Amino acid sequence: MMRRAVPALMAGLALAGAAPGGRDADQAHVDYMLKCQGCHRPDGSGDDRSAPPLRGMVARFLGAPGGREFLGRVPGVATANLDDARLANLLNWTLYRFDPDHVPGNFRPYTAAELGLLRQQPLRLDRVATRTRLVAGFTTAGKP
Ligand code: HEC
Repeated sequence: MMRRAVPALMAGLALAGAAPGGRDADQAHVDYMLKCQGCHRPDGSGDDRSAPPLRGMVARFLGAPGGREFLGRVPGVATANLDDARLANLLNWTLYRFDPDHVPGNFRPYTAAELGLLRQQPLRLDRVATRTRLVAGFTTAGKP
């Protein structure tokens, strides 16, 4: 449905000279604008009612047990209308774009194969409890 808008947007970005990080980053940025920022806002700040902030937050899940899987199974990610490779690229970009300080030094970027498996089991009603448990672990683990 929005597919035809992508080349035009990409061309617009290229013309504007906005190409930091190369083609994968450009692709991810466009995908974020089309699929994610309506809820998470362009700057990843989210809103307190419907979507949590990604900025300063999203990579903290990587340090919690089960957090890596959570990020691939949360509905906004798992059910995005993108193929596995583009989704992996987008999720990796999201981590570095909005929360570089919390990306663990030994982080292995998500691959298309890993996300392909995770998204086959999207979180449903259990997502809120799962998220609450993970976030509680951020503070009890004493990680800033
Ligand atoms: C309809 C609104 C909506 C859209 C669109 C959306 N999200 Fe989300 N996202 C949420 C909500 C709400 C949560 C909290 C978990 C839950 O209840 O699903 C969340 C959680 C997340 C999380 C886990 C971090 C956390 O704090 O829970 C990530 C990562 C994420 N979204 C990334 C994305 C990406 C990438 C896209 C675009 C492909 C996207 N989201 C699209 C609403 C949305």
